[in-house]
Amino acid sequence: MSQQQVEPHMFVIIGATGDLTRRKLLPALYHLRDQGILETRNTLIVGAALPEMGEEGFRLWAFEGLQKAGWHNNTELRAWCDECLHYQTVHEGAVQDYEALAGYIRRLERTHNMPENRVFYLALPPDTVPIAIQRLDQAGLLKSRGWVRVVFEKPFGHDFHSAQHLNTTLHHYIDESQIYRIDHYLGKETVQNLLAFRFANPIFESLWNRDRIENVQITVAEDLGVEHRGAYYQQAGALRDMVQNHLTQLMTVVAMEVPVSFDAGAIQSEKLKVLHSIAPITHEDAVFGQYSSWQIAGQTIPGYREEPGVPKDSDTETYVALKAEIQNWRWKGVPFYLRTGKRFPRKLTQVAVIFREAPTQVFRSLDPGSIASNKLLITLQPSEGFSLCFSVKSPGRPFRLSDHALQFDYQKSLGQLPEAYETLLRDVMIGDQTLFVSAEFTETAWRLYTPLLTGDRTVYPYTAGTWGPREADALVERYGHQWQLGW
Ligand code: BG6
Repeated sequence: MSQQQVEPHMFVIIGATGDLTRRKLLPALYHLRDQGILETRNTLIVGAALPEMGEEGFRLWAFEGLQKAGWHNNTELRAWCDECLHYQTVHEGAVQDYEALAGYIRRLERTHNMPENRVFYLALPPDTVPIAIQRLDQAGLLKSRGWVRVVFEKPFGHDFHSAQHLNTTLHHYIDESQIYRIDHYLGKETVQNLLAFRFANPIFESLWNRDRIENVQITVAEDLGVEHRGAYYQQAGALRDMVQNHLTQLMTVVAMEVPVSFDAGAIQSEKLKVLHSIAPITHEDAVFGQYSSWQIAGQTIPGYREEPGVPKDSDTETYVALKAEIQNWRWKGVPFYLRTGKRFPRKLTQVAVIFREAPTQVFRSLDPGSIASNKLLITLQPSEGFSLCFSVKSPGRPFRLSDHALQFDYQKSLGQLPEAYETLLRDVMIGDQTLFVSAEFTETAWRLYTPLLTGDRTVYPYTAGTWGPREADALVERYGHQWQLGW
């Protein structure tokens, strides 16, 4: 999270002609350029991929992608593509193809008088990552007189052993300090603001513990289904796709202790301590669901099993709700409920901190149901902000209470927020690992969830357009709680 300048470097995207490059990476890079953070003299972008599209073809493809992403300053846009974007095919990724890439990169470095600083962004299917890193090594690209950083996209393995194996493979070629594992949730401005909120505002910190907090609920609800990603999703499911990474990152940011400083090592070490303190999660405390079809206004929304690429008898979960117990002094006895799913009624990413009720009730004569607990709702999507909810007296007689909130809307107060990828790419370029996932974090998270991937798993159907299976309500009710549904 430093203010460092971007040093001159080569930004190489391996697998550059895919969806991720066009939808996320190029718009983020262009936006960084727009803010004056990237300049031609400090960053050259090299696309490397299978197609023989040539430099001109790649530039045009990128230009059209950026237009689709909303930029219409065509002359400037085209000039940027021509100046900054380069392309070299790596065909199927044979040794000689990577050697050709190495020759190409070195020539560019010489022509532009660049130091040998290189970022390799692997925008590749997970099973091709180990071979790509081996090829980069064989071509001598991982050794340089400058620095080399390698960026990886999730998934980092599909269970504990595969994650451990992947990390061992990567560490054979590069050091952990060169590895940037992306979890795009960490790049979201509101997640970073959670750190600021907690550690810059002592009034909240003094409430942030088992004495004051009844339970914490982390919801990542998506209104969409699996769309065109059925084949991938079928292998993953919600636990691997969302819980092991995004929701767990959110949980550790909410629950971590105050770090000794605001640098990567200190923050990552506190987050890891949270993970290490979580008790094994049992099948009794986890509910899996799968969306089934839904009729609305004469239309049928397909169920998961009707999605393209999904077998008709699939029992892959599109929904998970679970209870985690962080067994440390701060949180012992406070359930952390995590919940995520596809085809919910609306998109909502929210951390709800539910405070304990008053020890004795002054307003005894009122209907107990009308006295709501204090809540802090931290919303990440669709809008970003905080709501601190409390009871106030409704005007007049009879004496009644109603629930209201102090609200802070990030965008209204502070304007447009940067995209997660923009933040993360800039951090890679300046060498700040604070918002990236360490090897130990990935493995520890997998160790926690791997037992839930097998064993006695029932996957309950829920109708698309609802908040998940009834069994998930029963899970929280068993502990005397209810799901919080936004404000
Ligand atoms: C991705 C998952 O990591 O996150 C997708 O693979 C999911 O399945 C997406 O839809 C959600 O991201 P966001 O930023 O839209 O909440």
